Amino acid sequence: MAKRNIVKLGDEILKKVCRSQLKFDEKLAQILDDMAETMYEADGVGLAAPQVGILRRYCIVDVGDGVIELVNPVLISKSGEQIGDEGCLSIPGRYEKVKRPMKVTVRAQDRNGKNFKLTAEGLKARAICHEMDHLDGILFIDRSIKEK
Ligand code: NI
Repeated sequence: MAKRNIVKLGDEILKKVCRSQLKFDEKLAQILDDMAETMYEADGVGLAAPQVGILRRYCIVDVGDGVIELVNPVLISKSGEQIGDEGCLSIPGRYEKVKRPMKVTVRAQDRNGKNFKLTAEGLKARAICHEMDHLDGILFIDRSIKEK
C-alpha cells in the first residue's frame, strides 16, 4: 500500500463529475487500499476517488466500524434529516453545518463488481452522502448552511 496525495480545494478536479468504474481489476483494488491508508493517516472518515486525482465513481467510508467501499454508488432512498458540522480532507481546517438525510440506502458494487445494498444512519449516512457528492463535483461548502 502507499499513501496518495490528497487534492486540495482550488483544484479543478474536485469540481468534475466522475465517470463510472467499469473495470474490477487489480488496479482498482490497489487504489482502494491506497485510499484507505491515505484516509486513516489523515484521520478522515471518508475519501472519494477524485480526492486522489481519479475521476471515477468510487469512494470509501469508515466511521469507526470498518471500511466500506462503494463503487458506482447510487442513492435509492433517504429519510429524515440531520444538521451537523462537516469537514473534508480536501479543505483542511474548515468546518461548516450541512443538512443531510438521517438515513440512506444505497446500491453499489464492491471491489469485485458484486452488487450490494447498504442502509446507514447518522454519521455513516452523512459520510456516505458527503463522499457521493464528491463523485458529482459537489463539496460540502457548496451545501453549507450559513448561520446568521
Ligand atoms: Ni470530502
